[in-house]
Amino acid sequence: MMEKSFVMLKPDAVSRKLIGKILSRFEEKGLKIVGIKLLQITEDLAKTHYSEHEGKPFFNDLVNYIISAPSLAMVIEGDEAITVIRKIVGATDPKEADLGTIRGDYAMDTGRNIIHASDSPKSAEREINLFFNQDEIYDYEVPDSSWVYESTF
Ligand code: RTP
Ligand code: MG
Repeated sequence: MMEKSFVMLKPDAVSRKLIGKILSRFEEKGLKIVGIKLLQITEDLAKTHYSEHEGKPFFNDLVNYIISAPSLAMVIEGDEAITVIRKIVGATDPKEADLGTIRGDYAMDTGRNIIHASDSPKSAEREINLFFNQDEIYDYEVPDSSWVYESTF
């Protein structure tokens, strides 16, 4: 089933100039970027985005990390995109993350794990609406779609 996921390159990914390398992985996999923006997240937005973690010992450090420099927010579309993207991203702790995943290849520390991706359809819907207006998400054809997918969507 076609899905949209919310994906965000955190301040460390942007500041370490890893945007191109990370975006290439999603594009080369066959996923489609349908929304994208660079923004410095406010404290309020960071707290809302990560509200499920409010009260946990790492919450304040997480918010300070997320607001510390610009992030790259995206909506990425594909068949079962939410699950596929979580696999590409890898485990939360980059030391545990498999090599070949983004966190496994580019990060060292849970508190600097360079990328966020929605963990369920419900989270994806909530997070996309938090960061994007409907008119900032595009529906467009890509010429290689019949080479990426056997069925038409
Ligand atoms: P994310 O939401 O950013 O995609 O990460 P995730 O699902 O893999 O992990 P989650 O449990 O949702 O944690 C959100 C982010 O909080 C930071 N964190 N720090 N120090 C710690 O124990 C700890 N645990 C989590 C990480 O930046 C994690 O990505
Ligand atoms: Mg999470």
